[in-house]
Amino acid sequence: MNLDGRTALVTGASRGIGRAVALAFAGAGANVVINYVRNARAGQEVADEALRTGAPRVLLFQADVSRPEEAANLVQAGVDEFGRLDIVVNNAGITRDNLVMRMKDEDWDAVLNVNLKGAFNITRAVLRHMLKARYGRIVNISSVIGLRGNAGQANYAAAKAGLIGFTKSVAREVGSRNITVNAVAPGFILTEMTKELSQEVRDRMQAEIPLGRFGTADDVAAVVTFLGGEAAGYVTGQVIAVDGGMAI
Ligand SMILES: NC(=O)c1ccc[n+]([C@@H]2O[C@H](COP(=O)([O-])OP(=O)(O)OC[C@H]3O[C@@H](n4cnc5c(N)ncnc54)[C@H](O)[C@@H]3O)[C@@H](O)[C@H]2O)c1
Repeated sequence: MNLDGRTALVTGASRGIGRAVALAFAGAGANVVINYVRNARAGQEVADEALRTGAPRVLLFQADVSRPEEAANLVQAGVDEFGRLDIVVNNAGITRDNLVMRMKDEDWDAVLNVNLKGAFNITRAVLRHMLKARYGRIVNISSVIGLRGNAGQANYAAAKAGLIGFTKSVAREVGSRNITVNAVAPGFILTEMTKELSQEVRDRMQAEIPLGRFGTADDVAAVVTFLGGEAAGYVTGQVIAVDGGMAI
């Protein structure tokens, strides 16, 4: 894939899936805007690696995407630096798991604010530029949990399912301007987010995966870069599961 001359912004790119996605875009020759929220050192390491991997230029930018002003500043910084943002990946996400009966207001709000409102904040800010350019590729990282639900993750499932409705609606709004909006729904991917789970939960989940293995961040990045590239220009409003068949 050749993304020479393109610029990709990836939220929550200091580790995990976001890191793999940022490096995949770098490998395809795109300039990359790497967003992080807390770990500046990890962000810098990804930025350095992106340059080694093939990105002509990189911008590292701190922002909490759940805050509209910070999300807008992130987008503006990318536009100021590169003159354009062609590809945006709304990847930033958190979990605050609990059974509904025990879920605190702040755990509900935090997950909805980062995972769903964060994508809205970034998308609203970037669309202005994409509409003017009459080009754009937006990829939202949803989850298999948004498709099938999960006990103990009602807040996360609601946010990730919401992201799918958001994706389809925005795809309809901006399709006429050559902007595509798609979602990727990863299954069980080996990252910091899933590291905490007990062996028992892992064994149970693995038994539900037709391909018989957990996914890697690179498995997800491969599909995200396809959707962010020129070749996917006639694909919009879709949800592509990258889950080893979990959601079949
Ligand atoms: N790991 C999985 O199995 C899995 C499965 C399905 C979906 N996902 C989704 O993939 C995305 C990446 O997850 P991951 O597994 O790499 O987890 P991760 O915890 O390693 O990465 C999440 C990233 O988001 C960043 N982030 C959190 N809050 C933020 C905020 N307010 N502003 C900006 N950045 C913020 C974190 O700093 C981190 O870099 C998430 O949206 C997650 O819900 C993961």
